[in-house]
Amino acid sequence: MALHIEKIEKSKISNVDFSNLKFGQIFTDHMFECDFENGEWGTPRIRPYQPLLFDPSAKVFHYGQAVFEGMKAYKDDNDDLWLFRPDENQKRINISAERLDMPAFPKDYFFEGLTTLLKMDKDWVKKGADSALYIRPFIIATENCVSASSSNKYKFMIICSPVQSYYSGEVRVVFADKYSRSADGGVGFAKAAGNYAGSFYPTKLANQEGFQQVVWTDANKHEFLEEAGVMNVFFRVNDTLLTAPTSERILDGVTRKSIIQFAEDKGIKVEVRPVRVTEIVEAARKGELLEMFGAGTAAVISPISGFSNKGESFELPKVENSYASFIKKGITDIQKNIAEDKFGWRVKVQ
Ligand SMILES: Cc1ncc(COP(=O)(O)O)c(C=O)c1O
Repeated sequence: MALHIEKIEKSKISNVDFSNLKFGQIFTDHMFECDFENGEWGTPRIRPYQPLLFDPSAKVFHYGQAVFEGMKAYKDDNDDLWLFRPDENQKRINISAERLDMPAFPKDYFFEGLTTLLKMDKDWVKKGADSALYIRPFIIATENCVSASSSNKYKFMIICSPVQSYYSGEVRVVFADKYSRSADGGVGFAKAAGNYAGSFYPTKLANQEGFQQVVWTDANKHEFLEEAGVMNVFFRVNDTLLTAPTSERILDGVTRKSIIQFAEDKGIKVEVRPVRVTEIVEAARKGELLEMFGAGTAAVISPISGFSNKGESFELPKVENSYASFIKKGITDIQKNIAEDKFGWRVKVQ
């Protein structure tokens, strides 16, 4: 595979304050891109990170034909770079692309582009527990035409952003009983741009009421708890972890499936089944709801301190030795090459 490379003349890295990074605002020196035209992907390229020029009629602006991924790279004490289960992201962007009627991006292009880009921008990945490089692959529809149909031109890209460990402060959530992020037969299982656009307004309303996130419920009757903001969601009732099965409404999160496997391996009982709003409210009333947390690449695990359901508020207890902190440490130690990886999740960039 021919990969065309144009290097930056002078790195921007010395202008960046790595101790004070806001999530997703600073990007590394280079970007990877590849265009789809006449039924095939062209020559992939890496070039200096820069603005792109599009015709105002490009379909992505009008119909949101766009999918993306989110993954991270870590640097260990030996200056080696590691990815966490990157095959899962590579497969998932093509699952998302298929649902949005976009062409799959070839696996060999994906990994050749990603690893070359990471090696070129290696200095942007800092060592230590608090640092990582957030990687954003995406595909957009680039045909210049405002007719409401699939594009015949696309652009695949990867951009990278240095990040510090994600701490969102106290997270209080509200269970959705009006709005939905996805529905049966819809695109909820895909990382489709429009899913996120559609969730911003209900999330803003929740923020105005003092909640950081919405826990999305099934669109039919709002009876089942499905995702927390842009994360999968787990509940600890007594000593059992509960999480919803993936479905066409729920994103098949890499963190979620890693948590299930890790917890089961450590002897924690995990039940993957539909989780009713009523059972969680009941467990909270009885003092049996010990933990609730979101799971996703950005934060790995984001503990939730309280929730509101139909106007009634509940506080979660402060538990010693929480599953959230135990599992988060276990998984991040694997990601950063601190602990043995018996699952074969960690992949060296070379
Ligand atoms: C809607 C949604 N759910 C769950 C997740 C978690 O998925 P992952 O663990 O693969 O990051 C994400 C992405 O981070 C998401 O956007």
